[in-house]
Amino acid sequence: MSHFVVTGGAGFIGSAIVRRLLREDAGKVVVIDNLFSGSEANLEEVRTAIDFQSADIRNYEEIAPLIRGASVVFHEAAIPSVPRSIDEPIPSHEVNINGTFNVLRAAHEGGAGRVVYAASSSAYGDTAVLPKVETMAPNPKSPYALQKLAGEYYCHVFSSVYGLETVALRYFNVYGPRQDPSSPYSGVLSLFIKAVLERCSPTIYGDGEQSRDFTYVEDVADLNLKAARAPGVSGKVYNGGNGGRITLNQAWSLVQKLEGVEIPAHYGPPRPGDVHDSQADVTAAVRDLGHAPRFSFEEGMRRTLGWYRGQAGAAGRG
Ligand code: UD1
Repeated sequence: MSHFVVTGGAGFIGSAIVRRLLREDAGKVVVIDNLFSGSEANLEEVRTAIDFQSADIRNYEEIAPLIRGASVVFHEAAIPSVPRSIDEPIPSHEVNINGTFNVLRAAHEGGAGRVVYAASSSAYGDTAVLPKVETMAPNPKSPYALQKLAGEYYCHVFSSVYGLETVALRYFNVYGPRQDPSSPYSGVLSLFIKAVLERCSPTIYGDGEQSRDFTYVEDVADLNLKAARAPGVSGKVYNGGNGGRITLNQAWSLVQKLEGVEIPAHYGPPRPGDVHDSQADVTAAVRDLGHAPRFSFEEGMRRTLGWYRGQAGAAGRG
């Protein structure tokens, strides 16, 4: 029977991958999470169908037995956020680089079939040309971007030196249900939705004309399963985006439209380490992995807003 491990499986993206695996009736699903930013609530309705293991990827001895013999390891555990990595570089370094090394080492020594790694579009930094293609030279602008890039390089080296199969997926600003809006380091769309539901102004850093290739979490989960199976891709890096580009001003306009309100945003100074524009060229992922994103930005946001409304309603009733 197949045995899947999802590190960070109680997180926003990891739990979407867990659900996707269970929908396929894929086999045994082990979740490794220390609940630093993940939450067991994200796994509530699938809790009995999985093997949840409270373990920390910084501790090799803790995770090695859980990874041993896995068919595929989806490595999602990380301390995300560009500004958090600037404010608190040590924990993000330890988790994102040392933790990734531990996962790869455990996969190699434990005879795992493949590691699919959550890399980041932030590795590109600012590029002169859009969309961003995997052949462009990386140019990390923050500790987070560098850490995620180091993880990619480690994947490549474990593939070429030790023969461990690895695939790195550069995520482009993933959004959707279960993204936690409770921290100032949270993803911008979750903060926009929280603001609109509370009828407050969001803060936009800069003039709001910076753009992102926002990618719906279900499309990212699908891509992970495809990357787990695709032949002949070991050691490679792929863009896991949508191929589009939305400015923050456009995103806030859409959120207001979907909610039927008009609330002007506050504008603050640009954020250090921020990339101005981000857009994926998905040609390679479509060709080699069969990537086929299904959700337009408007449809993804409609579903996301619906989910947050449901949560707010449940809290109100509860
Ligand atoms: C970066 C990566 C992304 C990665 C994520 C992990 C890039 C292009 N993308 O996202 O791949 O998954 O880190 O955390 O580097 N903003 C506001 N108001 C807010 C919060 C944010 O205006 O309250 C702005 C930011 O300044 C930024 C944009 O929104 O311009 C997106 O920010 P955020 O959601 O934090 O993600 P990135 O830093 O783009």
